Amino acid sequence: MNEDDGRFSNPRAISSIDTISALVDRRLSRRAFVGGGVAVSALALGGCGKTAPAKTAQPSFNFTEIARGIDETHHLPDGYVADILLRWGDPLFADSPTFDPDNQNSTDQHKQFGQSNDFIGFIALPPDEDGAARAILCINHEYTKATMMFPGVAENYPERMTKAHCETEMAAHGASIVEIRQDVDGAWAPVIGSQYTRRITAGTTPMTLTGPAAGHARLQTNADPQGLTAAGTMYNCAGGITAWNTYLMAEENFHGYFSGALADGHRESENHKRYGVTGSPWYVWGNFLDRFNLEKEPNEANRFGWIVEVDPLDPASTPRKRTALGRIKHEGAESVIAPSGHVVLYSGDDERFEYLYKFVSTNTFVEGDRAANMALLDDGVLHVARFSEDGIVDWLPLTFGHGPLTAENGFQSQADVMIETRRAADLLGATPMDRPEDVEPDPRTGRVWVMLTNNNRRTEEQVNAANPRANNEFGHIIEIIEPDGDFTARQSRWDFLVKCGDPKDPSAGAMWNAQTSENGWFGSPDNCAIDPSGRLWVATDGNEDTGANNGLWAMETTGEMRGTGRAFFRGPVGAEITGPRFSDDGRTLFIGVQHPGDSDGATYENPSTRWPDFDSNMTARSAVLAIRKKDGGVIGS
Ligand code: FEO
Ligand code: CA
Ligand code: CA
Ligand code: CA
Repeated sequence: MNEDDGRFSNPRAISSIDTISALVDRRLSRRAFVGGGVAVSALALGGCGKTAPAKTAQPSFNFTEIARGIDETHHLPDGYVADILLRWGDPLFADSPTFDPDNQNSTDQHKQFGQSNDFIGFIALPPDEDGAARAILCINHEYTKATMMFPGVAENYPERMTKAHCETEMAAHGASIVEIRQDVDGAWAPVIGSQYTRRITAGTTPMTLTGPAAGHARLQTNADPQGLTAAGTMYNCAGGITAWNTYLMAEENFHGYFSGALADGHRESENHKRYGVTGSPWYVWGNFLDRFNLEKEPNEANRFGWIVEVDPLDPASTPRKRTALGRIKHEGAESVIAPSGHVVLYSGDDERFEYLYKFVSTNTFVEGDRAANMALLDDGVLHVARFSEDGIVDWLPLTFGHGPLTAENGFQSQADVMIETRRAADLLGATPMDRPEDVEPDPRTGRVWVMLTNNNRRTEEQVNAANPRANNEFGHIIEIIEPDGDFTARQSRWDFLVKCGDPKDPSAGAMWNAQTSENGWFGSPDNCAIDPSGRLWVATDGNEDTGANNGLWAMETTGEMRGTGRAFFRGPVGAEITGPRFSDDGRTLFIGVQHPGDSDGATYENPSTRWPDFDSNMTARSAVLAIRKKDGGVIGS
């Protein structure tokens, strides 16, 4: 979902008082590139068309770029096909009822593919007895929008909402875990009723809280006096697949679910305010369920904002909310195994002026010992990033007792530091960013790609070296270079890859390689993926109002082409593009089309497209596509 309500919660931004370092950073923000980066010398410098001369640049990608534009359907380069794999409401289990959008209910939705698919994880399984490729897809259902989901609701929202609507919404949140198989022609299809099939929801799926905050008094509720078992997960945006084949679901905008107000001076008032949990929700679940009403359950909001680890190989397993990874509006949760064997997990806090985090496990990954690896995310050090104008990023540990993270500042334990991760990071002087979305580390290169989607509230006084544009409407991409590939490092280097927006519009202040065509630039980078060849692909969410379409772009990251975008896919009107995930052989690209038809003023009855069915009896539906090359080759080859 493109959360464009102008909201932000960081008091450092609200007061316009950043640190002195930001003032210094601002003065130095004309710096185009830091030294010592990877092949930076031949890059385009700035958005005014000044570039290094193109010599014998060799693109990493070979496909015919698609044209810019917005219409009712999706578009691909010549030579590619997109199969619609899973749509909202599609059956998953042997006894799943047929989707009847005019008569939805929670019971049916629990057995059907959920709404608003976002993250896509791919876990290969051994081939079946006929040699067909098999895999498990792990797919987040980020959110629901009642006016685009139910007939008759838009004309009188929220008064028309019933408890049954809310329970159906809760069932449409969460995740679907789906086995897929490939036929002899290369097309994938879901295996209905597979032993792996699972729905996880916001309503009923029990989840164990683990790590330093588990059981803490601030996580206890009437329904769970021990503070150890949460009910469900919601607003799961991006995520990750670990080296031990578990599925991480990142809980993002949990503030949107809680109504009611805390009494003045309540223990959690300041904490909830820091997360925007201020009783003005997007959902009306609190009208029907006490746990979403802050007056009745002031601690329930503390049980969200975590990363959830799921074992997709065991549908009976209990998902775990890993509190050692911090409590923020987690966009994603991609991890790598560092050369030392430690797990390093990166996650952005997707709100204006929030921060970038990295977790380093205490223990090391053991190949083949899945049981031991299952505990790796419960013990380690969470760090927050401080970017400097000299191209350095310092990772500041969020450890109780260190620096300002003491009783003097209201932290009694590591549990408090994790529950109030944002405030802890404020005190450490982390760099307020332009909405960190997906973050992808590449173990082959030691580089980490950070998508910063946009920030239309940053003022000229608030720019800093890593976020150098006021009113940053189009976002940018930062590269972090871990020293010698040591992802555990406390100090790394950083550089820009691109500053997004139209390079021909001087007011945008964009920065692309001059070889980027008029179709190759984009705005609002959100999800990204690294393909099996190590190439970066970037999906977008936003800027349709400027005429910029949402889609997927191939990004050159090295050599003379570095900073060149090339348009590969675009979605139908109203949609953002989510998921991107490659099969292990690089021959299938799974991609999410989220909220098609949800343009300004659109409703269930009148979406701006009826993609993907184009049936007057069916509203628009989010869906997962499987994209292949007609000749069976590697995507982008
Ligand atoms: Fe759910 Fe950060 O986008
Ligand atoms: Ca987004
Ligand atoms: Ca996102
Ligand atoms: Ca990703």
